[in-house]
Amino acid sequence: MNLKEHWNNIYLDKDLKKVSWHQDKPSLSLDLISMSSMNRDTKILDVGAGTSTLVDNLLGIGYRNLGILDISETAIEITKERLGNKAQEVEWFISDATRFQSPHLWDIWHDRAVFHFLTEDYERKAYMECMESSLSDDATAIIGTFGPEGPTQCSGLSCKCYGIEDMAEWIGSAFSIEHYQVVEHKTPRNVIQQFIFFLLKRTVETIGSDRQSFE
Ligand SMILES: C[S@@+](CC[C@H](N)C(=O)[O-])C[C@H]1O[C@@H](n2cnc3c(N)ncnc32)[C@H](O)[C@@H]1O
Repeated sequence: MNLKEHWNNIYLDKDLKKVSWHQDKPSLSLDLISMSSMNRDTKILDVGAGTSTLVDNLLGIGYRNLGILDISETAIEITKERLGNKAQEVEWFISDATRFQSPHLWDIWHDRAVFHFLTEDYERKAYMECMESSLSDDATAIIGTFGPEGPTQCSGLSCKCYGIEDMAEWIGSAFSIEHYQVVEHKTPRNVIQQFIFFLLKRTVETIGSDRQSFE
């Protein structure tokens, strides 16, 4: 089964309020987005958005340039249906984040619980290159991954845990870590998962310029 089928099956089979990553309200993501830009014209892309209500919340407080990307068209269909008419106000992308070619630049790249599924160096390198080429010059990336004491498995897939040094190595000098926050996420089954959220600021450097080569 490929990755797309894996995630489509999850969204077809499971009670979405019981999946481990479920949040009633993505409060920290909303706070970090507000910290990055209060301008409601800011172009925000939620990468691996799944069926998160981040987009509902952002529309609700007036952000009007929103994009949703996910490898699973099933997740995208569920979110579109939930939004009803408001779905027309959003740009939709069914794509692997490591192969995404954005039609225009974004000001904020938001990823909660996607980057940690990339366990191969070539995938992480491709993700970082897509992130960089999708972002405007003074953009922000908000990446929430499993923290140093996070789980190494989720949804039947292996995950990679991140500390500050690990993330610094991946972003090289193309981004700087402006802020980070370690948080405990309580799953619907009351299991605690450690996450770390990074707020990364784009610099003038190009990704890969000083990041070690993984060829
Ligand atoms: C653990 S869920 C998190 C969903 C959402 N961000 C949230 O916080 O509720 C991971 C999501 O990433 C998507 N995903 C996994 N790998 C991906 C990839 N390489 N490219 C794009 N989306 C991916 C999955 O379909 C799934 O919706």
